[in-house]
Amino acid sequence: MAALALGQIWSRKLLPVPWLLWGLRGCASTNFKAADLQLQITKEPRKKPSPSDSLVFGKTFTDHMLMVEWNRKKGWGQPRIQPFQNLTLHPACSALHYSLQLFEGLKAYRGQDQQVRLFRPWLNMDRMLRTALRLCLPSFDKVELLECIRRLIEVDKAWVPGGTGTSLYVRPVLIGTEDSLGVNSASQALLFVILCPVGSYFPGDSVTPVSLLADPTFIRAWMGGVGDYKVGGNYGPTVLLQQEAQKKGCEQVLWLYGPDHQLTEVGTMNIFIYWTHEDGVLELVTPPLDGIILPGVVRQSLLDLAQTWGEFRVVERKITMKELLRALEEGRVREVFGSGTACQVCPVHRILYKDKHLHIPTMENGPELILRFQKELKAIQYGTKAHKWMLPV
Ligand SMILES: Cc1ncc(COP(=O)(O)O)c(C=O)c1O
Repeated sequence: MAALALGQIWSRKLLPVPWLLWGLRGCASTNFKAADLQLQITKEPRKKPSPSDSLVFGKTFTDHMLMVEWNRKKGWGQPRIQPFQNLTLHPACSALHYSLQLFEGLKAYRGQDQQVRLFRPWLNMDRMLRTALRLCLPSFDKVELLECIRRLIEVDKAWVPGGTGTSLYVRPVLIGTEDSLGVNSASQALLFVILCPVGSYFPGDSVTPVSLLADPTFIRAWMGGVGDYKVGGNYGPTVLLQQEAQKKGCEQVLWLYGPDHQLTEVGTMNIFIYWTHEDGVLELVTPPLDGIILPGVVRQSLLDLAQTWGEFRVVERKITMKELLRALEEGRVREVFGSGTACQVCPVHRILYKDKHLHIPTMENGPELILRFQKELKAIQYGTKAHKWMLPV
């Protein structure tokens, strides 16, 4: 238990380097091992999209998937790479009834040298294990899961697109498959990983800004809840509010929290503001990981990059609508943007708050910082610049 608790605290901070050394290797009660992988190659490979096809996110899947079953008595079974196929689930399956379900999202990129690389996958493994423990789903060895994922991508390598801005989206999932209706910790579970080739989020080197509905009656996450875990239950209920935003002419929801209307996240992205703080210092600010913010991998990467540049203050601090309104009035706001695996960095140009459309001057300001982040991340992800954040497949 002590080892698990230590793993939880440590992974919360998303520390990248000692990962391979620490992990939970050998500490968890049972593990599956990449060395035991069984490989069943499809006899009916499907047609791969051509470079000219526009790939809609999450609609095209590769030929294979990873599957590992767990049950309380036997622990983890042997991991398998098998043809992509439907699942067979008991109708009482606890993932379907009580959301004993979690997922991850990360990307692999094909560089000009044809090498495929995963972006900071260690952080996704950390987050996934942390979420599994929160849902009382089985623990696993992060090193072994990552190696299984690497092998899966290797098998479906030809599916990794090669065009500018394209990538292979990797979706690991862990569900409780308990076949009874009691609300209990699952005595059976299934871990699987599927892969989707995805197109460029923004065409070319441009970025398109989004507008946001900021309505404090909608709450995504709360203190003591699970907003800082990647559980499916956090997402389904947001679809209605996404529709509400669209009805009001906005593209996404700006999630506010508390009586002081703190800015927390944007849709399924973390939020950043680049402004001159009221103390006169130029800074990049994002809310701290205090329990209601998802510890985004891109969020961490932007903080890390900006800190290495050392050109302005980089801070994790609560931001309220009152502060944003004052900064807009005083012309101190340079850029507001979201960060996430799908888009990397996405500019915000308008916020609808208390029936007023607030213009955010992100695009007028370049957007200098957003484009710099995009460029730097691209260079790292597509291997133009060798970087310790990338794991070659
Ligand atoms: C609620 C939420 N916030 C932030 C993010 C961004 O996280 P990441 O940078 O790991 O994609 C995501 C996407 O996974 C998300 O669902």
